[in-house]
Amino acid sequence: MVCLGNICRSPLAEAIVREHFAKNGIHARIDSCGTSGWHEGEKPDTRAIHVAHDRGIDLSTLRSRPFRHQDFDAFDVIFAMDRSNYNDLLEMAKTPEHREKIHLFLHFAGRDFGDDVPDPYYGNLADFYRVYDLLDRAANLIVLGFQREAPTGE
Ligand code: 4NP
Repeated sequence: MVCLGNICRSPLAEAIVREHFAKNGIHARIDSCGTSGWHEGEKPDTRAIHVAHDRGIDLSTLRSRPFRHQDFDAFDVIFAMDRSNYNDLLEMAKTPEHREKIHLFLHFAGRDFGDDVPDPYYGNLADFYRVYDLLDRAANLIVLGFQREAPTGE
């Protein structure tokens, strides 16, 4: 899960997708990072922590890190939160195999979700709740798609 700062959208996406995968018995390594290293080592934004906590998910142990080139090999799928993150990732990719791993998170969920998870950083708490709910609805559909494909480990 990749956004710009790795303190608002992608930590939420990481924790929400992890929760959906766990509920559906799918084993996967899920991580998040930012296209920038501006907030490296920091916890998620306090508003993201608050909203997630309100919905029963703990974000407080996550720490921001920048995207590393090795991530292209370490992960099978790389989800960008918006088109700017998507384009930045495409620029970093050096091979067709790496490029093929990059997807817009919302496109993976289906046609009705649009392109971009809006950046709530300059917004208010209500914007964070909207982002949470959007990610949660999209994650629900994404997990169903993986469930059809992924081994469950059983
Ligand atoms: P994120 O939000 O990409 O969803 O983590 C942002 C966090 C920090 C900044 C911008 C967006 N920033 O400009 O520092």
